[in-house]
Amino acid sequence: MHTPQQDSSAPLSKQSMGAAAVEAGRREPALEAINIVKNFGSLQVLRDVSMTLYRGDITAVVGDNGAGKSTFMKVLSGEHIPDGGQLCVNNREVQLRSTQDAQSYGIETVYQDLALAPDLSVAENVFLGREIKAPGWRGQIGMLDRQLMLEESTRILTELGAKLKSYRATTQSLSGGQRQGVAIARAIKWAQHAILMDEPTAALGTRQRDMVYAAIRAAAGRNLAVLLISHDLPQVLELADRIIVMRQGTAVANLNPAEVTVRDVVDVMLGAKGA
Ligand SMILES: Nc1ncnc2c1ncn2[C@@H]1O[C@H](COP(=O)(O)OP(=O)(O)OP(=O)(O)O)[C@@H](O)[C@H]1O
Ligand SMILES: [Mg+2]
Repeated sequence: MHTPQQDSSAPLSKQSMGAAAVEAGRREPALEAINIVKNFGSLQVLRDVSMTLYRGDITAVVGDNGAGKSTFMKVLSGEHIPDGGQLCVNNREVQLRSTQDAQSYGIETVYQDLALAPDLSVAENVFLGREIKAPGWRGQIGMLDRQLMLEESTRILTELGAKLKSYRATTQSLSGGQRQGVAIARAIKWAQHAILMDEPTAALGTRQRDMVYAAIRAAAGRNLAVLLISHDLPQVLELADRIIVMRQGTAVANLNPAEVTVRDVVDVMLGAKGA
């Protein structure tokens, strides 16, 4: 089956289109959520959350524990079906009923817990579930083009600045930072519109985080919309183009990182001013 996200030439054309749009001062919405509602039983966890993720932007979502950040992201990744509201990808309304649905619309997710298959190689992880068949009769009998997948994985990870000793080694032999780099490379490879990340550095040491932050920048540099959930506020201020603050299931503020301090963000998160 051929789907648009399998066109490996797409990221380059997207990049050039995006650059032109930025020069012209236009911001292109990649993913829009409008008045999203989500209930778990009688508990309303998301109340009319609206948010637009723009191409080339890193949008950080911050908030106290239980504010609804992960639940909101799971609505965007197709893991939770919302009880109300609309989702638009590339200005077209879509219904996401599964993570596969979201992937088919060009939305990829990177999880906190380094969700790779440990016994598979880097290349096998990047292409997991979306393997390239060998040409001709070999493909018809189910053989894979391992060389092409290896080359493509090596190319993406090299572009991200990953210095892996071997792309044939299983991912369990990699450091946490390297593994998260592989997960982001996989997302970049397949995302057409947006990459969603829930605490992608939470399981990592300080030094390993830098590689992941560089990979997040690289994703935005490829004109993808990036949503980053993080509790690391100093890093969010440095990395994000915009900060959305969630509190008790509502998006309460849209802040410009250039204009606020960590203290300001914490005050909004906790509702210290007024509430
Ligand atoms: N599957 C679920 N079933 C029932 N309640 C849930 C479920 N998932 C989340 N919740 C509840 O929804 C609320 C929001 O949780 P969520 O995980 O979205 O918060 P969060 O902002 O990601 O918090 P944290 O910063 O701790 O990760 C919490 O009260 C949580 O207990
Ligand atoms: Mg969470």
